[in-house]
Amino acid sequence: MIVGVPREIKPGEQRVALTPAGARALTEAGHRVLVERGAGAGSGIRDDDYAAVGAALVAADEVWQRAELVLKVKEPLPPERPRLRPGQILFTYLHLAPAPELARALRDSQAIAIAYETVQRADGSLPLLTPMSEVAGRLAVQEGAFYLGRAHGGRGILLAGVPGVPRGNVVVIGAGTAGLNAARAAVGLGADVSILDVNLHRLRHLDDLFGGHVVTLVSNSFNLEQVVRRADLLIGAVLVAGARAPRLVTKDMVATMKEGAVIVDISVDQGGCVETIRPTTLLDPVYVVSGVVHYGVANMPALVPRTSTFALTNATLPYALELAAKGAVAAVRDNPALARGVNIWRGRTVHPAVAEALGEPPTPLEACLR
Ligand SMILES: NC(=O)c1ccc[n+]([C@@H]2O[C@H](COP(=O)([O-])OP(=O)(O)OC[C@H]3O[C@@H](n4cnc5c(N)ncnc54)[C@H](O)[C@@H]3O)[C@@H](O)[C@H]2O)c1
Repeated sequence: MIVGVPREIKPGEQRVALTPAGARALTEAGHRVLVERGAGAGSGIRDDDYAAVGAALVAADEVWQRAELVLKVKEPLPPERPRLRPGQILFTYLHLAPAPELARALRDSQAIAIAYETVQRADGSLPLLTPMSEVAGRLAVQEGAFYLGRAHGGRGILLAGVPGVPRGNVVVIGAGTAGLNAARAAVGLGADVSILDVNLHRLRHLDDLFGGHVVTLVSNSFNLEQVVRRADLLIGAVLVAGARAPRLVTKDMVATMKEGAVIVDISVDQGGCVETIRPTTLLDPVYVVSGVVHYGVANMPALVPRTSTFALTNATLPYALELAAKGAVAAVRDNPALARGVNIWRGRTVHPAVAEALGEPPTPLEACLR
């Protein structure tokens, strides 16, 4: 199969959908890999690095015209949409439910659109969202530690403390992928860490994992009130799948926080779990409410595109290899996780949430494969 990797054109997007290691795996499996010139530049990957593993460096037109499978990071923007061809497989993050116009364009293109974020294993896990939550969780502590610096508007606290001076207090709300990774980074820095969740299984898991180095607490308003007041760094990492994040930290609780404390609400992309959070950008990441620094960047992995690119390809490559080896029909028949990723199939809307956004009934995937 011919596999194409265009350069991302979304403003500020520096990731690329395939690393040289991924390109090598595809060429070794007998596929032809076309990478747009300069596609890896934002992630520190040179054209030569791709050429060295057998990929061809070509112009954007050639990628879109020849590729049977297009690997991307972000959804196709308006200039990219007319380039999609009937039957072409597009494998990327799509987030179509809140984007009916894009969903319509994909449907009209007659392409096969498979969304990273809806690829789902039988246990409910989302293997292609996980790597970005891992990045965001660890980064939340790094960014929070930075903004705790006095010159950056914070309390002037070193999270690790020093002998004779207490450690900084980090509170993580949500013990899923992002929360666990935030806790791990905070423990690694030597902070005093508490983590809250409504799921006792998750708390047991973390208790085992950290061997007593984090305090686990059930998430309720009583416990939240206590810990939020003490936090130097408060990290929001909750998710209720398919729903807006619950507003757990009220503005009254924020008002009890210490002057110069920092909130990093990772769940801002789902509306945020802190009442006073609003989405910000990497160019202007923070603002202050009640003396508390608020960080609401909705695309945190974009700050570290190199790490994010490698993390993403590690997760997507097995699926890309399967699609390239078998073609879309056999790949989704054989792999139910990938089948759940299908949003649109040659003019028909398959994913229920996307169909609902378009106000039409979904077509069962099986009907498309006949
Ligand atoms: N800002 C960014 O750049 C960025 C990047 C990646 C992920 N995210 C977002 O981070 C959030 C977390 O993602 P994840 O992959 O860790 O999700 P996850 O499903 O692995 O974990 C979410 C956790 O929240 C817990 N939770 C639900 N309700 C809760 C409550 N009332 N109190 C405490 N905990 C509660 C769940 O039990 C679960 O353990 C999502 O909104 C995701 O979209 C943001």
